[in-house]
Amino acid sequence: MASPPQPRVCVTGAGGFIASWLVKLLLSRGYAVHATVRDPKRLPEVINTSIKVFQYIIKGGSEKMNNKFWPLVHVQDIADALLLVYEKGEPSQRYIGALEQMDIKDMVALLKTRFPNYDYVDKTVDVDYKLTFTADKLRNLGWKPRSLEETLADGVEFLEEAGLLREPCRLPYLYHMNTVE
Ligand SMILES: NC(=O)c1ccc[n+]([C@@H]2O[C@H](COP(=O)([O-])OP(=O)(O)OC[C@H]3O[C@@H](n4cnc5c(N)ncnc54)[C@H](OP(=O)(O)O)[C@@H]3O)[C@@H](O)[C@H]2O)c1
Repeated sequence: MASPPQPRVCVTGAGGFIASWLVKLLLSRGYAVHATVRDPKRLPEVINTSIKVFQYIIKGGSEKMNNKFWPLVHVQDIADALLLVYEKGEPSQRYIGALEQMDIKDMVALLKTRFPNYDYVDKTVDVDYKLTFTADKLRNLGWKPRSLEETLADGVEFLEEAGLLREPCRLPYLYHMNTVE
């Protein structure tokens, strides 16, 4: 008996950080993936702004950092969310995929319980920045993201394995512009 045809999808910008995780997920679920990139010579940026900020939070440094609330989420949970929305979501809808927000000080406190040997950012300036949102719409589709603890731990382990916690790092401007006197 002939097997059912493989479902086929096209992922645009497939060399991007999130898109490359989505491609892996789609392949693991049996999709045939067609990928587009605008410039095949362009290498994807491995260390994006979010990674640079996370690096700085763990390593610390001389710059003061805005003590913002952060909507965090694991990149693989975003790939899961994209596939879930593709398979079960409504067209033209907006879905929010993020865990509960935490500020930098709380994040550092949580990270120290599992990874006590890093310096961590210790100069922060409180800023009035908190978003109100809920990921319930996505959870109602069956989205089950990793916990905050697991998300943070995977992030640190990724940076350790990539050797990104050995080198000095700078805080991207966007995260300290309110602190510049
Ligand atoms: N990564 C994070 O931590 C994070 C956090 C918050 C929000 N986001 C948002 O999530 C989205 C994806 O993030 P990412 O980290 O995966 O970014 P990324 O690695 O820079 O990938 C973005 C992809 O989008 C494609 N693209 C950009 N401009 C395009 C255009 N005008 N037309 C068609 N394709 C275009 C590029 O594809 P080509 O290869 O074809 O140029 C690129 O591969 C971005 O909007 C980003 O702001 C990401």
